[in-house]
Amino acid sequence: MTTSNPTMLSGISPSGRLTLGNYLGAIRNWVGAQGQFECFFPLVDLHAITVRQNPETFADRCLDFIAQYIACGIDPTENAIFVQSHVPEHSELAWILNCYAQTGELNRMTQYKDKSRRNVENMNAGLFGYPVLMAADILLYQATHVPVGEDQKQHLELTRDVAGRFNNLYGPVFTIPEPLIPAVGARVMSLQNPTRKMSKSDEVEGNLIVLLDSPDVISRKFKRAVTDSGNEIVQRVDKPGIANLLNIASATMNVSIDSLEERYRGKGYGQLKSDVADAVIALLEPVRQRYEEVRSDKNGLEDILAVGSEKARAKAAKTLTEVHRVLGLIPATSRDRTLDNGY
Ligand code: TYM
Repeated sequence: MTTSNPTMLSGISPSGRLTLGNYLGAIRNWVGAQGQFECFFPLVDLHAITVRQNPETFADRCLDFIAQYIACGIDPTENAIFVQSHVPEHSELAWILNCYAQTGELNRMTQYKDKSRRNVENMNAGLFGYPVLMAADILLYQATHVPVGEDQKQHLELTRDVAGRFNNLYGPVFTIPEPLIPAVGARVMSLQNPTRKMSKSDEVEGNLIVLLDSPDVISRKFKRAVTDSGNEIVQRVDKPGIANLLNIASATMNVSIDSLEERYRGKGYGQLKSDVADAVIALLEPVRQRYEEVRSDKNGLEDILAVGSEKARAKAAKTLTEVHRVLGLIPATSRDRTLDNGY
């Protein structure tokens, strides 16, 4: 069943607004991978409902995110862009994999521990099982490569462990995926609180650069970014603010951190901030300009999702059928016995 055809899968949960972190950690690398992999890019809406979403605005937010995928340069004619809930195989495989993930290993997930501290009033079982649904997303498509930011590394390790455990019991059903984590930009930090990750559901505006921020707003946010005491522009643990700006500069200007330290020797923080802002604006402005046009064509977006989910379902159903078979689940027999039921 397992294939070694280069297959890429990566998802984003539609909460909050897409940020520079999502772009540098994930989306930019999806764009660069097109043509080299068979690509699946689900918007993982079932992951987002682990925290309460407003049903009045949720569907619109999902379409906003899809339009941003396309505005960033994902070609929907070549790659499957779809919504997770349109492919019910994700939920079914997640249930099955729940029976192969250990509660002990889920308890060790740092994102779960962090989320449980922040969601005391709604500690639902979905938050606990979240990494298993993510494993299902990946394994359904026999993905060989999964481009993600640093924060998802532990979830990828869990996916590999669960897939390996299943394969050991039943034979090579799942491809074991490799994470693709960029050398720079894999962990963009909050601008006001650089010891914390830039998070798309953060409500403090100054903490994040939103993909659709105007150039003025981007400049202002970088100008106000927290820096550190002293005046040296170096990447050091005791200088998280400057280290974050250097990391963003390196990822957006395609220059190594070493060369940047050299370039900014003897220069002030203000210069670095204004250069980083310019580099980020140059990267994001074409996205913002393209976005309005893409987003205004709602029917076009829905057609893209219909085509994407059809392509996704074809592959997902194949994997799930194989999972049923190896588990010994009773085959669903068509009443029309002339139809091949796939077993
Ligand atoms: P999510 O929606 O939080 O983030 C989407 C992607 O953006 C990356 N990312 C960052 N990279 C750098 N710096 C940051 N500050 C930053 N913040 C986020 C994330 O690493 C991710 O790649 N569980 C996943 C979604 C998911 C998924 C999947 C990903 C569900 N199924 C299957 C890959 C494959 C999540 O919550 O990502």
